[in-house]
Amino acid sequence: ADVIAVVPAAGIGSRMQSECPKQYLSVDGKTLLEHALNSLLAHPAVSRIIVAISPDDPFFSTLPIASDARITVVNGGKERADSVLAGLQAACSAHWVLVHDAARPCLHLDDLTRLLAITATSRVGGILATPVRDTMKRAEAGRQAVAHTVDREALWHALTPQLFPLELLRTCLERALREGATITDEASALEYCGYHPELVMGRSDNIKVTRPEDLALAAFYLTQLAN
Ligand code: CTP
Ligand code: MG
Repeated sequence: ADVIAVVPAAGIGSRMQSECPKQYLSVDGKTLLEHALNSLLAHPAVSRIIVAISPDDPFFSTLPIASDARITVVNGGKERADSVLAGLQAACSAHWVLVHDAARPCLHLDDLTRLLAITATSRVGGILATPVRDTMKRAEAGRQAVAHTVDREALWHALTPQLFPLELLRTCLERALREGATITDEASALEYCGYHPELVMGRSDNIKVTRPEDLALAAFYLTQLAN
């Protein structure tokens, strides 16, 4: 398949409370962003990556990977969806696009391979996801008390990468943004437009580094990946 990747890396990482945006924190000698980029480039189908960074980002250009010919940089936007859309607008040729968080450094090649396999059978695309493990409660309206237990069988955690036909994702993101829909991942833009992306079973160690305590976990999972 003809696949391009877009990596949104223009966030400020407010929940991480670190000196620099979290995608530039180092684990095992490389930044989270470099781990994420390398995990995508490990697959032979990924020929090009567009990285969306903040317009005043002083960090990216200092990374060795910045001079890799397969990587292009664009300016990201205010929200994650704006950054992804900026990436898509710079990607003209490919049929399929993978979108992967800069803050997810522990992607295994076999998960990426399993996701990419759906290009043979799906016209809508799909996302890596893991089934919810904990018992899930819905709170009562306006009150921190249990209303009822939610059926866990039907609940999944949405991860990245997420894989879609490039033009379809572009169309759905543009419409969702224009109409003010709540978009927290790429799949939600497709859902908003009536599509049903596939859920592809992913590994639960493909974590997004979000809070300070996640960094040590990512470091541990990366040592596992190396072995
Ligand atoms: N992102 C982006 N552009 C934005 C916001 C987020 O490219 N305007 C990227 C982040 O850099 C990250 C990914 O989207 O790689 C996932 O977002 P999240 O984990 O929420 O990162 P931040 O927005 O940076 O963190 P926080 O929400 O804690 O501020
Ligand atoms: Mg955010």
